[in-house]
Amino acid sequence: MEDWVALGYLLSAALFIFGLKKLGHPRTAPFGNQLGALGMLVAVLTTIFSMQLAGDAEWVLIGAGIVLGSLIGYIMAVRVQMTGMPELVALFNGFGGAASALVALSEIQKYINDSGTVPAGLELTVTMVAAGLSALVGWMTLTGSLLAMYKLKGGVSVFGKWIKTPTWGPSWLNPVKVLLVIAVAVLIYLSIDDPTNTTYLWSIIGISCLLGIVLVLPIGGADMPVVVSLLNSLSGIAAAFTGFIIGNSALIIAGSLVGASGLILTFIMCKAMNRTLPDVLFKSFGGSGEKESLTRTKVGSDPDEVAMMIDGAQKVIIVPGYGMAVSQCQHQVKEFADLISEKFDTEVKYAIHPVAGRMPGHMNVLLAEANVPYEQLIEMDEINSEFPECDVAIVIGANDTTNPAARSGEGPLAGMPIIDADAARTVVIIKRSLSVGYAGVDNDLFYMDKTMMLFGDGKAMMTGLNNAIKEI
Ligand code: TAP
Repeated sequence: MEDWVALGYLLSAALFIFGLKKLGHPRTAPFGNQLGALGMLVAVLTTIFSMQLAGDAEWVLIGAGIVLGSLIGYIMAVRVQMTGMPELVALFNGFGGAASALVALSEIQKYINDSGTVPAGLELTVTMVAAGLSALVGWMTLTGSLLAMYKLKGGVSVFGKWIKTPTWGPSWLNPVKVLLVIAVAVLIYLSIDDPTNTTYLWSIIGISCLLGIVLVLPIGGADMPVVVSLLNSLSGIAAAFTGFIIGNSALIIAGSLVGASGLILTFIMCKAMNRTLPDVLFKSFGGSGEKESLTRTKVGSDPDEVAMMIDGAQKVIIVPGYGMAVSQCQHQVKEFADLISEKFDTEVKYAIHPVAGRMPGHMNVLLAEANVPYEQLIEMDEINSEFPECDVAIVIGANDTTNPAARSGEGPLAGMPIIDADAARTVVIIKRSLSVGYAGVDNDLFYMDKTMMLFGDGKAMMTGLNNAIKEI
């Protein structure tokens, strides 16, 4: 019978790995997601089966957990807006980390309840180190993720009042972070000699919760995506540690996959934003969270004027950003591209910034939903050299990812590579006002002589532009 359990875990691990492979391309990603979900179902059923074999399956508890968990997951997934996805991911990361840490805690609780079950020698050392690391990573992920979620939301509502989550990072906080990690390491070491002493365990949990907060607190503005991705990786690492403690191979494999892929994504995002991970964690990049006040003005254009200007353009590059996601105008954007390529024989491409929107691949997902051909979606590094011979760059709800202030070496966006929309012959920007983007920095691109501002909601403006083009 135990062979069946091993086989079930092997099958779920294979499904996770193939699922992850399929997630590598937008076309195959939905199938990859389904494979991953199927792998998780197989893992859960195998675990219940093995508990039944061992004679400790508590059916009421298991049933209640499955019903409650499925219900909460279903409601959250149905209700979440695409633009609220990063907050949901941050919350799930936190829950994942806490769940792993709780399982590890329950194993240690067994020793405390019955000191006869405490293992000896190397097994004790491995268990206590894994439990300590699981607690460190798991609780740190929980508090860090909750704070990240509130930062992404822009604050927290208390008694009907909206209070902004602070971005606060004096430099003396950095040695504090290092000291907290050292304190946990010492406590883990001490717990090996005295595994039933609960003081060590609760101290590790307390310090880890504090560490999550002090790590995420100073991070603001444009660097939050990196932190969410890192916390995702940490939740996987916590699961893998817990897998070692309870001897569950599926948990070790799934946790390692999440840990490794999350870490790879973290480094890809750091590279995209021209940061190193230590810089993001210790240098309080990303600004104070304060928004720059605007002092300049710019006269707006109208869709007819822009349509006339596009008539005759040989090459148009569309630069989508968060505003396209908010207004959900990807279908109108696709219609616009079809219209101008059919009517004016214009070549159309899309410039994709790695952190445009609010989650990795946000623009790709939205444009794929509108059936934009993948070949037209060109990554920032590749498309930037094409802007000097581009007649019109159409920026739809993108701000930080086109902001020349990033080249200045100062401020929250310092060093982040941007889409070189300002190098195009003419720039059209569709957004509701001159207001700042996520990082809170005023954008010189709006005020350039060659820039035409189309002030309004993305969907309304794109519909107006399409109608104007149809009438030419
Ligand atoms: P942002 O800099 O966030 O700017 C988006 C702009 O969209 C805003 O200035 C806003 O201007 C406009 N907008 C909002 N609603 C709109 C609507 N209904 N119609 C038209 N425009 C609308 O966008 P971005 O260039 O995509 O940059 C993304 C930023 O988010 C980066 O700083 C990035 O670091 C950060 N971030 C990214 C991620 C990931 S992983 N992608 C995760 C978290 C944070 P108006 O208010 O004037 O309309």
